[in-house]
Amino acid sequence: MENTQTMLKMYLQHLIQPGDQVIDATAGRGKDTLFLAECVGPEGRVFAFDIQEEAIQSTRELLAAHKMLDRVALFQESHTEIGRLVPQGIRAAVFNLGYLPGSSQTIITGPETTLRAVNDTLKLLVAKGAIMLTVYRGHSRSLEEANTLNAYAAELSKKDFHVLQGMYLNQGETSPYWLTIQKNRGDHS
Ligand SMILES: C[S@@+](CC[C@H](N)C(=O)[O-])C[C@H]1O[C@@H](n2cnc3c(N)ncnc32)[C@H](O)[C@@H]1O
Repeated sequence: MENTQTMLKMYLQHLIQPGDQVIDATAGRGKDTLFLAECVGPEGRVFAFDIQEEAIQSTRELLAAHKMLDRVALFQESHTEIGRLVPQGIRAAVFNLGYLPGSSQTIITGPETTLRAVNDTLKLLVAKGAIMLTVYRGHSRSLEEANTLNAYAAELSKKDFHVLQGMYLNQGETSPYWLTIQKNRGDHS
């Protein structure tokens, strides 16, 4: 898990430029939001979503402790609202799926909502912008989510998107994996 995140972060540090607009679709405890806030710099903007008050509060506190609250728009909303609340021109979006660490495992991302959020986010990306998903498949619901996402991503036009998957070959079939979807052109909608 830690290694998956490290690799994605290296990619994101390369992709995101100061002043960019990015999305954290699952703010959780705020670690990814903070990382994204550092990447976009003082002139950039992070749009961060989580349905749980506890997650939004944790994220707000972490950002405030690092004096980065002013570059983040925090929404206690489902990421299905991304299409309504986020403007065009997004460089990168991070989806760290699953449940809030240290909290209820019943509040968890799901296939239909994640798919809708990913689909809406693709429409907001600039050319060469990308979505990075960390996907879990440790139980039936997350396996269903993983299978739904894979089927969706595999059907995306290769003219419009580069779709890559990375997984551990030595950590078993239920280990987390990553999926990146990079947009080739800016005119897809
Ligand atoms: C694995 S955690 C995210 C970890 C986080 N990125 C961090 O750095 O701490 C997944 C989060 O997704 C949130 N979540 C579940 N369904 C959601 C939805 N429909 N929209 C937005 N967030 C959702 C959960 O509340 C949980 O906090």
